[in-house]
Amino acid sequence: MLLDRRGRALGTLRLSVTDRCNLRCTYCMPEAHYTWLEKPHLLSFEELTRVVRLLRAQGLEKVRITGGEPLLRQELPKLVGMLQQAGMEQLALTSNGVLLEKQAAALQAAGLERLTVSLDSIRPEVFTRLAQRAELQTVLSGLRSVSQMGFQELKLDTVVVRGVNDADLVELTRFAGSIGAEIRFIEYMDVGGATRWQPDLVVSQEEILAQLRTGFGSAEPLAGRGSAPAQRFRLGNGQVVGVVASVTHPFCGDCDRLRLTADGQLLLCLYAKTGLDLRGLLRGGADDRQVSDRLVEFWSQRQDQGAVDRTRVGQRSGYVSLEELRANPRLEMHTRGG
Ligand code: GTP
Ligand code: 5AD
Ligand code: SF4
Repeated sequence: MLLDRRGRALGTLRLSVTDRCNLRCTYCMPEAHYTWLEKPHLLSFEELTRVVRLLRAQGLEKVRITGGEPLLRQELPKLVGMLQQAGMEQLALTSNGVLLEKQAAALQAAGLERLTVSLDSIRPEVFTRLAQRAELQTVLSGLRSVSQMGFQELKLDTVVVRGVNDADLVELTRFAGSIGAEIRFIEYMDVGGATRWQPDLVVSQEEILAQLRTGFGSAEPLAGRGSAPAQRFRLGNGQVVGVVASVTHPFCGDCDRLRLTADGQLLLCLYAKTGLDLRGLLRGGADDRQVSDRLVEFWSQRQDQGAVDRTRVGQRSGYVSLEELRANPRLEMHTRGG
């Protein structure tokens, strides 16, 4: 088992395959213009598979494919197949759902069994206000089709923003139940890219649970969370929901996640300002042993606990300035895979 300096084992890789997105959620991509990663710099499927194979030998258990919007990456099912052939058993994907209806069957055929779809409201005007694109019906029909396909795991992610979708939680929970999905409510985080973030826009886990208790009678915590970002609760109607309380109850102490940007920068934390230039290493001709040694060394010296550190900041506002984001798009949430 590969441990970092806080005794945390490497377990999950969040693999971003593109920084592009077809929505513009205001908590993630509120700006009118972005600096994009350069296409020739994106790691190829062969390069990605090689990294995953080497990490797997160090104990990696799970790969979650993310973006931007990962379904915008050409031929994504091919990557899923390659990762599976490389022995990666737990493969998951986080998507905004817009392209799901078109691609879900091919992804499933390639071996994908776990799917998380972002859904912030089922009221069209609220969805459009948050996503800045009128795509609710497309996402809902994608969700309805995958709900019939027998995925092993289907989850919904809702980022709760005060005054926008915070009245929708009970309705969203009922919808999740109707398609057999587990919904997770996420506290709005002050990550890079969230340039509109303000403390009073965060709806806390306590407030989320209070609303769910009003709607469903009770919400009792479940044991066995492990390194997952979400604490799960069983509601009075038997349904299970999760809450990702990164702002009010950071979970860095159990974080097993490594991140890779689509252009090959390896990051130890959602809040990391610098990372390891893996692309340079891979394209510079390093052999498997050399790459593997660098990976081991990188994780071993990890001390990051970004969300915990943020709680010690007095006057909290956006984490990274617009100037810094424009100069370094790898600081963006949409580039580092959420
Ligand atoms: P599973 O445990 O496999 O369901 O994955 P997940 O919960 O990591 O998946 P998902 O991509 O749906 O992420 C849910 C939310 O948790 C998103 O808002 C992520 O940005 C957030 N999140 C994921 N990993 C981390 C992390 O390491 N730190 C923090 N602070 N938030 C995270
Ligand atoms: N706060 C919380 N969650 C966020 N995500 C993106 N930006 C933020 C933010 N500022 C979430 C998306 C998706 C996941 C990959 O990251 O909603 O669920
Ligand atoms: Fe992991 Fe960093 Fe998130 Fe903490 S803030 S849980 S260390 S990614």
